[in-house]
Amino acid sequence: MSTPVNRGQWSSRFGFVLAAAGSAIGLGNIWRFPYTAGQNGGGAFVLVYLIFVALIGIPVLLSELSVGRATRLNPVGAYRKLAPGTAWPWLGAIGVACGFGILSFYSVIAGWTLGYGYYAIQGRFSGDFDAAASNEVFTNLVSGPMVPVALCAVFLLLTALVVRGGVSSGIERAAKILMPIFFVLLLFMAIRSVTLDGASAGLEFFFHVDFSKLIEDPSVIGSALGQALFSLSLGMGAMITYGSYLPKEENVPVSAVSVALFDTTIAILAGLIIFPALFHAGVDPQVGPGLVFVAMPSIFGALPAGTLFGIVFYILLAIAALTSTISLLEVIVSYFVDNRGWTREKAVWIVTLISFVLAVPSALAFGASSFFTNLPGGGFLGLMDLIFGKYGLTIGAFGICVFVGWFWGVPKALAEIESSGHRLPAAAAWGFLVRWVCPVAVLIIFALVVAGRANW
Ligand code: PHE
Repeated sequence: MSTPVNRGQWSSRFGFVLAAAGSAIGLGNIWRFPYTAGQNGGGAFVLVYLIFVALIGIPVLLSELSVGRATRLNPVGAYRKLAPGTAWPWLGAIGVACGFGILSFYSVIAGWTLGYGYYAIQGRFSGDFDAAASNEVFTNLVSGPMVPVALCAVFLLLTALVVRGGVSSGIERAAKILMPIFFVLLLFMAIRSVTLDGASAGLEFFFHVDFSKLIEDPSVIGSALGQALFSLSLGMGAMITYGSYLPKEENVPVSAVSVALFDTTIAILAGLIIFPALFHAGVDPQVGPGLVFVAMPSIFGALPAGTLFGIVFYILLAIAALTSTISLLEVIVSYFVDNRGWTREKAVWIVTLISFVLAVPSALAFGASSFFTNLPGGGFLGLMDLIFGKYGLTIGAFGICVFVGWFWGVPKALAEIESSGHRLPAAAAWGFLVRWVCPVAVLIIFALVVAGRANW
């Protein structure tokens, strides 16, 4: 297997940062982060989350980027090149499998955002649209069967059309158009939300740190770390793949920190949008996964210019999800292109089709099929999330730490990171974190996942 000369690369650092931030910023930030924070006690969770992003997220992100840029290959090819004749490429294969698994369930939820965007445009969420009505709309939509499957297909098709365009003229161009729109809309929403009556109670909930919550319930810690991995798209080789398109002269430390900062800022802004709005309308912030689909629509009617607020909100969610599904698809496509010699076009369509077939049971797991709905672990979608989003990512994150920290070695990874002449600040601390702190921390969450105590 050789490194194809024409894999494409990012045209600029800015392009890379937007694309990688696009991967990181997703449903994880706007859908999962707020409801997980809501369920895990608000401020204490947010604080632990921030610490994990800095101490675990950034070091693992740098590790993935260094492996990608050193090899200019997808995860399987990358491990094979750096560790020929070993079992390491299997870790890359787990990453590719996670790509299929996460893409399949993620695009189902992403499909719902399109449905909700349509409802918002129709003006459904106005006037006396209350909690009961909201529940009914949600149940009707997700229990399909046709609509959720069709919406998921549309979402996968949009993803495929972007990835088909290649690295700089497909993915990077989409990120350069979508991400700025996303930031402007998000800011508009955050300002609107924090100036609502009653917003301060929401802010108080989101930022008030109650340490007793952490002591009472260790799962808060596991959830925060799991959420940090998921949110930064770590553990499945997405950042190996995106790193493989980084030109040699780019400043890796600054790029990595920018991506992490963007991702975290967006998660916080999402909280600034959601909690004030919930408290304004007197909705319980601990509702769980239904937060953005059930709780939010029921409050648009009570907000000034609520219809507009709703439309913008679901467009935001859809954009965030799209730039993430693009990266999930790209990991798998790059494997088939690099290692199997497929053309990008062929890889995109075949992989999209397989992902769609895998997605159907998740789309039917909310009432359409009682079998898929009642599977243990929260139905088929919950099971996919558990296997690929939780087990898969923690195994992958543990693996990359051991690989970079102990097998390939910190000096080589550091030399790669610094090869453009930009130094990694606190390089010794990074080495220590990657060798010791990150693998141990990830093992702890793995144990919490196995024990059913980490819930993100
Ligand atoms: N980071 C994305 C989000 O927050 C999800 C994701 C995970 C994307 C893993 C790619 C790889 O929604």
